[in-house]
Amino acid sequence: MQAVVEQVRNLLSARVTDTPFAARHPECVRFAAGGKMLRADLVLRLGRTLGRPQSFSVPLAAAVELIHAASLVHDDILDGATLRRGLPSMWRLMGTANAVLFGDMLFFLALRILAECDGELLKLLSGMGCRICEGEYLQELQVEKGSVSWEDYLKIVRLKTGALFAFAAASPVPPDRQDLRRELELAGYALGTAYQIADDFLDVRGGCAMTGKSSGQDRRLAGVSAVVVAEKCRLSPIQEVGKLLEEAQIRLRPWPEVHAVWSHYVEERIRSQISQCVSDL
Ligand code: FPP
Ligand code: MG
Repeated sequence: MQAVVEQVRNLLSARVTDTPFAARHPECVRFAAGGKMLRADLVLRLGRTLGRPQSFSVPLAAAVELIHAASLVHDDILDGATLRRGLPSMWRLMGTANAVLFGDMLFFLALRILAECDGELLKLLSGMGCRICEGEYLQELQVEKGSVSWEDYLKIVRLKTGALFAFAAASPVPPDRQDLRRELELAGYALGTAYQIADDFLDVRGGCAMTGKSSGQDRRLAGVSAVVVAEKCRLSPIQEVGKLLEEAQIRLRPWPEVHAVWSHYVEERIRSQISQCVSDL
């Protein structure tokens, strides 16, 4: 699988090198191809199990990573974050105006790749993309208010982070298997929500050296972080994460092959991330 993930990184590098941003800011290529590839890996594993050829899954995985990267470029502007993927955040590197444009460019590169591999997927993506923006907007509204309930917190992260995991999970499914696509979509929402809870803890406990991104500095977002909301609501985050991961697994039980691949993915790629920060909760 590692070799196929490398193919995704190579495609990302090639497409971003081809943009006008790369000549002045070569670091932007490293940024775009330098993520953990969690979402790409999910696309690739599910694609293989569902009989999709690599000529379909590799570009699809690259498109998902480009959308993720675009959202991070914009997110770092909103959050004033200065470090990402071990590099200066894109707005620090190229200035805010250029970084807005770079994020837009990544987003449109993703749309072009998706149109090339399966135009029908654009419809699915447009729904998920709106949800990501809705999640970020709800978060901004709550930031103004100060603090949120656990239910409001879950709603925000399900949208802002869950939606792209939902797309990564649902998009490899052939269109004639709608039941499976729907359950994978819902499993993706649960997985992304669990991941974001852990990421909020990592933000506070991990430190920049571990995460490669700005860490725990953002007082503005403190009221909408799992760390603060779980403590205020006297909830155990590890239990909440466990419930979400369990929900995802249960949804996939009717498809044993998919269930097995999902379980391996969660064990290999997600639980390790989560255990870095929530083992002692
Ligand atoms: C990280 O959250 C950010 C997101 C999960 C989504 C950001 C989405 C947008 C800015 C909307 C624009 C979307 C597109 C597709 C261009 P975080 O700040 O909690 O995590 P962090 O610690 O990684 O910054
Ligand atoms: Mg952020």
